[in-house]
Amino acid sequence: MQSLDGSPLGLGTRLAHETRTPFAHHGFVNTPIHRGSTVLFKTLDELEGAMRVDTRRGPYTYGLIGNPNSRELEKLCASLDGGAGAVVVESGLAAVSLPLLANLAAGDHALFTDSCYGPTRHLAQSILPRMGVTTEFYNPRIGAEITRQFRSNTKFILLESPGSLTFEVQDVPAIVGAARACNIVTAIDNTWATPLFMRPIEHGVDLVIHALTKYQSGNSDILLGAVIARDEAHWANLKHHAEAHGHYAHPDDCATCLRGMRSLEVRLKRHEASALQVAQWLESRAEVGRVLHPALASHPDHAIWRRDFTGSSGLFGCVLKPQPGGRAYLKAFLEGLRFFGMGFSWGGFESLVVSSDLRQSRVAPPWTDEGPLLRFQIGLEDPRDLISDLAQAFDCAASAAKAIRTDSNA
Ligand SMILES: Cc1ncc(COP(=O)(O)O)c(C=O)c1O
Repeated sequence: MQSLDGSPLGLGTRLAHETRTPFAHHGFVNTPIHRGSTVLFKTLDELEGAMRVDTRRGPYTYGLIGNPNSRELEKLCASLDGGAGAVVVESGLAAVSLPLLANLAAGDHALFTDSCYGPTRHLAQSILPRMGVTTEFYNPRIGAEITRQFRSNTKFILLESPGSLTFEVQDVPAIVGAARACNIVTAIDNTWATPLFMRPIEHGVDLVIHALTKYQSGNSDILLGAVIARDEAHWANLKHHAEAHGHYAHPDDCATCLRGMRSLEVRLKRHEASALQVAQWLESRAEVGRVLHPALASHPDHAIWRRDFTGSSGLFGCVLKPQPGGRAYLKAFLEGLRFFGMGFSWGGFESLVVSSDLRQSRVAPPWTDEGPLLRFQIGLEDPRDLISDLAQAFDCAASAAKAIRTDSNA
């Protein structure tokens, strides 16, 4: 889709108009939902021909392989990321496993950023080695030095930037430059930034992974994932493996996700502004050791973020200073919050928080902070309410810790 004078269309315009074909559906604004497994053929020639079609763009053949809703979502994802094509699958995690299974075989070596999402780590540590793939973690801040970890059989590098718990920003052009020189396939989990704030294909990445469950859907009510391929060959390979493994994106979920994507720009801007406000406030608190938000000048990778990203989303972390009262302090803080739910995932309209301790899992480099690591998803609430909620929860936690000290002194 183009503007009348050939200049690029604004993002809001593209999100509102791209891929929709109302007059192919009696004028209805959104594509109707096409539920179904069986697709009928009028003639034997058509049925036999269906075995030979390119299932990325030819006529529909079977519900598992594609339907008008999944194709529409694939088209929008590919367009936003600037790829040749996309494959949508049933979850963000399926979008992580698909490119691994589509590109790795027994005897290969694969590199994973140590900052990757926990279940991605599990794939690297437990599932791929069982299939004869050797895996290794690398320091997310390694940059061009990644070549030191290359072996003659290195075939794949997984990036995630920023890491969705620890928020290191990777030097994507440096890593991808090194990988391309050695014919190594690169894939990045770009869920945090969405294509609105970072477009990895422009930096040479081969495959872009999105958990559409998060910002694209925006309501915490579905699971869905997408992989976007930079070129036809990667796209065909992904589609072939998605079909072979029986991956599927339900048409209801695709339609729900498309509805979310039409308003993605305005929602993300609100998430961004509120998260920055809350992060800056947390930086001023005595209880907080450091805030992990790439758009803050205090973040060690702020310069890379400024160079490669056009915005920041609503997810960031902070490390609390070790507090007297330990777990009781943390429990009182988390349970004292009114507007932050305790739970996994992010990208919805509501604020969330989770705590973790990575000292048992991180290896490159090891995680050494003693204080708890908190991850905040800042939702669409009024940020002033979120800040006063956090302030009162810090008070609750301090009272709980004091009560424990008084009891133990009694
Ligand atoms: C960075 C990242 N990638 C992938 C996923 C997986 O998404 P899903 O929950 O849709 O499987 C998540 C989920 O939290 C995530 O945080």
